[in-house]
Amino acid sequence: MASYFFSIPKVYFGEEAIGALRRLNHKKVGIVTDNFMATSGKTRYLINEMPHASVSIFSDVKPDPSVEILHAGAMQFKAFKPDVIIALGGGSSLDAAKGIKVTLEEHFPGHAIELIAIPTTSGSGSEVTSYAIISDPQNGRKYPLIADELIPDYAILDPHLVLSVPRHVAVDTGMDVLTHAIEALVSTGANDFSDALAEKAIALTWQHLPDVFHDEKNIQARTHMHNASCMAGMAFNSAGLGLVHGMAHAIGGMLHLPHGKINAMLLPLIIEYNARHSPHAMVRYMKCAAIMGIETATSEQTLHALINGIRDINHHFGIPATLQDLGKDRAEFESLRQPLITASLADGCTATNPCKPRAADVDQLLTRIVG
Ligand SMILES: NC(=O)c1ccc[n+]([C@@H]2O[C@H](COP(=O)([O-])OP(=O)(O)OC[C@H]3O[C@@H](n4cnc5c(N)ncnc54)[C@H](O)[C@@H]3O)[C@@H](O)[C@H]2O)c1
Ligand SMILES: [Fe+2]
Repeated sequence: MASYFFSIPKVYFGEEAIGALRRLNHKKVGIVTDNFMATSGKTRYLINEMPHASVSIFSDVKPDPSVEILHAGAMQFKAFKPDVIIALGGGSSLDAAKGIKVTLEEHFPGHAIELIAIPTTSGSGSEVTSYAIISDPQNGRKYPLIADELIPDYAILDPHLVLSVPRHVAVDTGMDVLTHAIEALVSTGANDFSDALAEKAIALTWQHLPDVFHDEKNIQARTHMHNASCMAGMAFNSAGLGLVHGMAHAIGGMLHLPHGKINAMLLPLIIEYNARHSPHAMVRYMKCAAIMGIETATSEQTLHALINGIRDINHHFGIPATLQDLGKDRAEFESLRQPLITASLADGCTATNPCKPRAADVDQLLTRIVG
């Protein structure tokens, strides 16, 4: 298939970005968010920009949204028939809003609904992607839906909205950004456009995520991380992701772990695995190391320094190396081993990994991550 790069969302960024909502002042606006956003003044912050808009708020999104949440949101909005849906929140709210929007459009043929994504974490990049990750709690699975209809029309990157993200969530979501950018850089779908965005996202994250960890109220560092998250989203939307995300969706779906945290834990293991199995990936990881300022005498040493650099930053951020360190039950994990292997190999993100993993490879990686 021919490579392509999209440019659908208009991206407003910076401390005045929220003013982009003023043009909605006389529209019917549905807001999709979670309970924290609704009760902590964040929906009010939006409504203040469009005081004459007619607004309906669906605030029942839960982390890792399920199909039931999509149906509940669509039900609430059926009578209201919004012109615009605003997705406000972390990746979970953004993905839920995407699902609700397409479900409603199926109900109202010919009534196109504008989608505006306002991320409140610097993590998923969902504000610019054609992905929505939907959970099926009954089967313990997470599925990436991928369709152009899921790409928002506008993204608003307002750093004020992320200042309240607690440190432990900021580092988990920030490591999701780093993983998006690194996986996009080594993906089989990488291209000049995605490389430009992935490289900048790696540089910004490596420099500014520790600053956010050190001082949560550092608005410059928060701004850079918010922009990096969006750039990494654009990069992987074009290039695809890899085995870290394939395994993270499987493990996160079955063991209920924060998405960014399980990515961060898997990233060093899979860099090592990919570099051993793909000379092309090795070259790409050298590029990645150079962007991070890691250079030594030989490629082998640089690879080790890159892997150890990621392990060290995880340790600094309080992200454990293994599932056992995270307090997960080994017996429960072992009972899920086979479904985890199957789900990791079947995940859409695994398809663009630089080498094609076998079941035995995933099995070994699972043994290492459980600890
Ligand atoms: N669609 C995509 O392209 C894509 C990419 C990566 C991840 N995802 C999905 O996104 C989800 C993860 O998103 P996430 O990491 O942003 O987490 P999240 O949306 O689940 O939010 C994590 C927690 O942070 C809280 N939170 C969010 N913003 C806050 C703020 N400003 N202040 C205080 N608390 C805040 C939320 O209420 C929630 O409790 C997963 O389901 C993952 O699979 C989607
Ligand atoms: Fe992710």
